Amino acid sequence: MRPSRSLEGELEAARRWLPGLGLERREEVDSTNSELMRRARAGALAPTVLVARCQTAGRGRLGRSWSSQPGASLTFSLGTMLAPTDWSGLSLAIGVALAEALDEAVRVKWPNDLWVEDRKLAGILVETAGSDLREKTRAVVVGVGLNVAPSASGGDPAAACLQELEGDATPDDALLCMLEPLARALRQFDRHGFAPFAARFAARDALSGRSVAVQEQDRVALEGSACGVDGAGALLVHTSSGMKAVTTHEVRVRPVPLPD
Ligand code: BTN
Repeated sequence: MRPSRSLEGELEAARRWLPGLGLERREEVDSTNSELMRRARAGALAPTVLVARCQTAGRGRLGRSWSSQPGASLTFSLGTMLAPTDWSGLSLAIGVALAEALDEAVRVKWPNDLWVEDRKLAGILVETAGSDLREKTRAVVVGVGLNVAPSASGGDPAAACLQELEGDATPDDALLCMLEPLARALRQFDRHGFAPFAARFAARDALSGRSVAVQEQDRVALEGSACGVDGAGALLVHTSSGMKAVTTHEVRVRPVPLPD
């Protein structure tokens, strides 16, 4: 995952895909996603990467909070305007691009976590704002929370971290190696949708062939065997009553542990 260029070099490379991409660093912000979403709703989202050392109100999927340790994790968001013909599969496309940028061992757990050996390495929160239906253009904000160093007190002891894969990795190394691949993935998705990412997702699919339980709030809505995704990025689950496509991201999917 070693970046081969300096920060300026990586930014320059990323600007090939997102012209004008700027990078801002903050010591502290409530949430890098919230900050870029506020700008998007105010109608002014220039392509921006916002990196914060500390978030006071970090947000995760499904309304959960996201806590991270300054210095031991990377928290950033990238916001830009996109106008793909079809938005389905965006979070998978981003997950694939980031997994590939980080390490061979990183898998994508539908819909948008990065895992190493079944433990969470990173969470991705994709949000969109603004809908000018005539223009099809929306602002998209991609937030990434990545564990870089092992968790000290307060963190999740079961989480994976980047230093397991690359002993001396820093939050900045991780940012540098993900910038250009993320910008490229967003542009590629904008032009071609999920199709160019489908085979790449299959190669990194953490759930493929595994027994899974699909949870809606606190109840198990579906159980079966995960069979990859369809052309729109919906999770395919082979159940006792046939193949089901799970489209909503308002569910949690967990692999069912094998019996002892
Ligand atoms: C999840 O796994 O639930 C997604 C977590 C996303 C966390 C990142 S940290 C940077 C950005 N800002 C936020 O408030 N959330 C995302």
